[in-house]
Amino acid sequence: MSEERENLSYEEICIHLGEDPERYMGSVVPPIFQNSLFTAPSVEARSRRGERYIYTREANPTTDILNAKIAAMEGAETARCFASGMAAISAALMSQLRSGDHVVCVKNVYYPARALLQDYLSRFGVEVTFVQGTQVEHFEQAIRPNTRVFYLESPTSINLWLQPLEEVCALARARGITTIIDNTWATPVFQQPLQMGVDIVVHSASKYLGGHSDVIAGVVCTSQQHIEAIHREMTLIGGILDPFAGWLILRGLRTLPTRLYQHQANALRVAQWLAEHPAVHNVLYPGLPSHPQYDLARRQMSGFSGLFSFTLKRNSREAAVGVVNALRLFHIGVSWGGYESLALPMLIEDYDGEQRWGLRVHIGLEPPDSLIADLEGALRHAEDKGR
Ligand SMILES: Cc1ncc(COP(=O)(O)O)c(C=O)c1O
Repeated sequence: MSEERENLSYEEICIHLGEDPERYMGSVVPPIFQNSLFTAPSVEARSRRGERYIYTREANPTTDILNAKIAAMEGAETARCFASGMAAISAALMSQLRSGDHVVCVKNVYYPARALLQDYLSRFGVEVTFVQGTQVEHFEQAIRPNTRVFYLESPTSINLWLQPLEEVCALARARGITTIIDNTWATPVFQQPLQMGVDIVVHSASKYLGGHSDVIAGVVCTSQQHIEAIHREMTLIGGILDPFAGWLILRGLRTLPTRLYQHQANALRVAQWLAEHPAVHNVLYPGLPSHPQYDLARRQMSGFSGLFSFTLKRNSREAAVGVVNALRLFHIGVSWGGYESLALPMLIEDYDGEQRWGLRVHIGLEPPDSLIADLEGALRHAEDKGR
């Protein structure tokens, strides 16, 4: 990474890096290069211009601005954007794996990533072992002679467990194993995995990077060493990001740090309030000192985003569904990372290993007092109905 990029704040990266209004007739917002191909008046003119922009499946100027910004935020040498988080995850994994390889994967990762390894890549002879991943020993004990990849997600997005990243990466480096992490929850604003030794970072940009629940996208950030194989996956499997979707992510990114600081402030308020509520069994949020890995969380993250879970004392599906159905401000929905608050009833593995019913909530940008009032009403309503 160049020094110039290293000294920029997240805000400067998100707002200015890679944008050059003078190149585009002073347009403060870069245009969308919504074209599939790039033509030239002659063969000579085409080769004089260079070979970067030929066909949008290979490269596109709008997407390149996004690549530059996200790489700079992650402290990566380079990045590539994809049509979805899953396209980014599958490209990162497939760039590393061959038939007969073994992956050690954190067991609570985003479920389709788990299914990709367990049900899909297994068809091509890839083996996988799932581990709790909260201690480096879990990885050490799972290593086989053919282990090629550790697949990480820290924190995990349902029960918010962390992996000790520096220790896990040191172990992987010593054994020649590549580490891939899903950094969607923390974003580069709150966690920089490459600085802790991770080789490849993936994101669902459909969450905080886009931030407005209006676009599906993914990103891979890594070194020059790994990008060639990832770029090959991108062009051969073809899961590229459409330029318009890239432009929407660029628009979302401009407010990423500002949004995240507000998500953090709101989520902390709501999590603290829930932790005191008599109907709540446990709040699973790494920003609370009661989280079993709070010290680790403070060491490896500089902040906490807005997605977390809580379990209920009335441990039943009916109770969890009752609370969710009684919410008025929270929408019921699966995704997260947008401006809006969301809730889902879920069976959650609590920190004592027990499965308990509760809610996964995404705390949006509404006033936290309004969110607390909504939760208070819903918890009371569900309690009354349960009597
Ligand atoms: C943690 C995490 N990673 C990856 C993904 C996949 O991203 P996408 O939906 O953009 O394919 C999701 C989507 O919900 C997610 O929650």
